[in-house]
Amino acid sequence: MSRRQVLAGAGGTPEQIHLTWGESPTTGVVVSWASPGPAVRPRVRIGQRVIAAKPRPYTDGINGETVWTYHARVGGLRPGATYAYLVTADNDSNAADPFSAIFRTAPHGRAPFRFTSFGDLATPNADWVLSYGQSAYAVEAVESFQPLFHLLNGDLCYANLNPAVQPEVWRDFGRNNQASAANRPWMPCPGNHEVEFYNGPQGFTSYLTRYTLPENRVPGFGGRWYSFRVGSVLFVSLDADDVVYQDAGAFVAGPAALTPAASTGHPPIEPGTSLYLRGYSGGAQTAWLERTLAAGRGDRSVDWIIIQMHHCAASSSATGNGSDLGIREQWLPLFDRYQVDLVLTGHDHDYERSFPVRGADADAGHEVATGAVVNTLRPHPVTTTDSGVFDTSQGTVHLILGCGGTDGNLDDYGTDAAGGSPFPGGSPPRTPPRKAKVFTRTDRPARAATPDVYGRAAADAVEDAIWSARRDTSTGYGVAVFDVNPGTEAGGRTSITVTQYHAVGADPVNPATGDKGAPTPDYTEFETFTVTRPRSDGGP
Ligand SMILES: [Fe+2]
Repeated sequence: MSRRQVLAGAGGTPEQIHLTWGESPTTGVVVSWASPGPAVRPRVRIGQRVIAAKPRPYTDGINGETVWTYHARVGGLRPGATYAYLVTADNDSNAADPFSAIFRTAPHGRAPFRFTSFGDLATPNADWVLSYGQSAYAVEAVESFQPLFHLLNGDLCYANLNPAVQPEVWRDFGRNNQASAANRPWMPCPGNHEVEFYNGPQGFTSYLTRYTLPENRVPGFGGRWYSFRVGSVLFVSLDADDVVYQDAGAFVAGPAALTPAASTGHPPIEPGTSLYLRGYSGGAQTAWLERTLAAGRGDRSVDWIIIQMHHCAASSSATGNGSDLGIREQWLPLFDRYQVDLVLTGHDHDYERSFPVRGADADAGHEVATGAVVNTLRPHPVTTTDSGVFDTSQGTVHLILGCGGTDGNLDDYGTDAAGGSPFPGGSPPRTPPRKAKVFTRTDRPARAATPDVYGRAAADAVEDAIWSARRDTSTGYGVAVFDVNPGTEAGGRTSITVTQYHAVGADPVNPATGDKGAPTPDYTEFETFTVTRPRSDGGP
């Protein structure tokens, strides 16, 4: 053992190993990990190549702990190929037999592939607020479907609800999802619970330090939003914290202040303080989105455009957050103009699917407090027949997949509790109608009845959720599996089959039945539907 190894101890042992796509999913990945202390010569080996990892440490702004993360960009690979890699360092306690795993690169051109998605994962360590054992089974479920990659649509681990121990919560998250994320890229987007006090201008330092994500080339906003291509699909990952009205990020409710460790030098955060991000990019994200969508729809090798973001434009959750007018105002018109096919979100801890929507119904909402008419820009369904096959060139289908592993299951919906069972007989009658809550203005912290305690109000408006097609009332846990069929001829049809698998019985308490449940590894099919559209390579 060298003198350097002795000095550094075994603090460089890799853990929390995970992959993301590099700049080109057909030719590379990024391998990222953390170690308990600083690593000496952290590196990835793939075949005979040794790739040095770049260190990216940070110090948590509340408890003052330093976190050591490493990122190795692996390029020059062949499309659609399988590679083995290992991760090590000179001061890796497993140096004799380092961590190793296998991954696949994306196929070239119009090729079939599978991806999966959910959000709101948390960790299996129930000591942490909103964590729950289902989180481990959720990772196993992803792995069981062997997708090419997974979209993790925000609220990764709720570290900001455990402010004194944020690095420990992130560590449990990373150690849990390594069981899949070391074998295939997990591509995240930020949610409201990635927003942390004293961790960077938007509170994303913990998130951004752990992930290396594709470049968006917008100075100052790297990692917050990005896009990548796999096959004929353009994936666009957004940060809806930038546009939503609701104030859902880091918050000190009181009565006590949140006092950072003395080593941070940061003053206490007083009750009633929240980190509210609406408008933080000054329009830069929306301008980037428009450029990205326009380029995608102008590209004859792109058939599909799929968005992932965390907050919902169309959710009829009763006990969760509901819908947000900010997304409807700023982004739904762009989704319409550029024929976005699918929007995958989390935030409400359930499963809900919309009919294809295009355009908006004016003045369809009512203020909760007064009953006055409010223009919620209600998404307009282009059909309300639940046929099981939807042409998304005619309208965008929104999916809420906040069904990862958190203990805060919210499978409780506005009015009409029936989940409906539409295929093939069409839609069930809607009596009484489904209702959705909608944030149409900010809900900044307000003084509660108790001295020095603050709260944030629920959504201020409500509408008939005529866009809501299907809701899972049996459980708040599941994973969505997407199989892309690129079609066989230029100008023909292409389709994506979507299957939602759910973990019945996993709810700590089922809101519909009151039944107590427990984490379960059993994921069974809830529903399958197909989206279809014309390929963009027809005509001259
Ligand atoms: Fe959320």
